Amino acid sequence: MEGQQPLIELKDIYKIYRMGAEEVHANDGITLTICRGEFVAIVGKSGSGKSTLMNIIGALDVPTSGTYLLGGEDVGHMSDNQLAEIRNKMIGFIFQQYNLLPRDNLLENVELPLLYAGVGKNERRERAMKALEKVGLAEKWASKPKQLSGGQQQRASIARALAGDPSLILADEPTGALDSRTSREVLDFMKELHREGNTIVMITHDSSIALEAERVVRIHDGKINFDGDVKEYASIL
Ligand SMILES: Nc1ncnc2c1ncn2[C@@H]1O[C@H](COP(=O)(O)OP(=O)(O)OP(=O)(O)O)[C@@H](O)[C@H]1O
Ligand SMILES: [Mg+2]
Repeated sequence: MEGQQPLIELKDIYKIYRMGAEEVHANDGITLTICRGEFVAIVGKSGSGKSTLMNIIGALDVPTSGTYLLGGEDVGHMSDNQLAEIRNKMIGFIFQQYNLLPRDNLLENVELPLLYAGVGKNERRERAMKALEKVGLAEKWASKPKQLSGGQQQRASIARALAGDPSLILADEPTGALDSRTSREVLDFMKELHREGNTIVMITHDSSIALEAERVVRIHDGKINFDGDVKEYASIL
């Protein structure tokens, strides 16, 4: 990581939910730096705090305390509008259930984040088509999500994530809904994106999927209990 540029800087992040008299420390003092160009898997069992952390990294939520810098900007104290702007500008999301709009065709789905970002119609079309080409779905641009296989839908959602040329690709259980062959295809594609220089953070409960990344961060009870190279992670499994 030496000499590299930090993209994500989390310092002493707490997310505390108050449930009556009880407190749940969903994130319990997380300090983590991720540099541009890294491919990091965040792994942990159910309830360990992965989604909570993903929501903070993805600027979908703010921590109870601690600081979060994304590309040097302090995200931890932003208003909802500011968070929405940062998300649009900097992050491409990939979800387990694809989250494609069923009534829109693929091109319209991929264009959507660009529309939110205020990109004009012609440029939007052009960039969305380019992203569809990249995932091998250009010919399917007019299809509705339902007319595609699960793997194709996930590729379309990857195209949507890429269209805005984000600083960070944030994937939450990207292969959770796919069979093993299609998962392989999606993971290989994510590796290719990494080779091309993209920064990828992938959340998973599955250690074998985490092994696809180059660095693994494991959380347990809201705390990081492993952070290292994937080879080292493989050796402790
Ligand atoms: N909105 C909330 N209110 C209260 N407690 C919450 C809330 N969200 C999460 N928690 C608690 O915080 C802890 C971490 O939850 P989180 O959803 O981050 O886990 P996770 O690692 O994503 O689990 P899974 O793999 O099952 O999705 C859990 O104990 C959960 O019950
Ligand atoms: Mg979760």
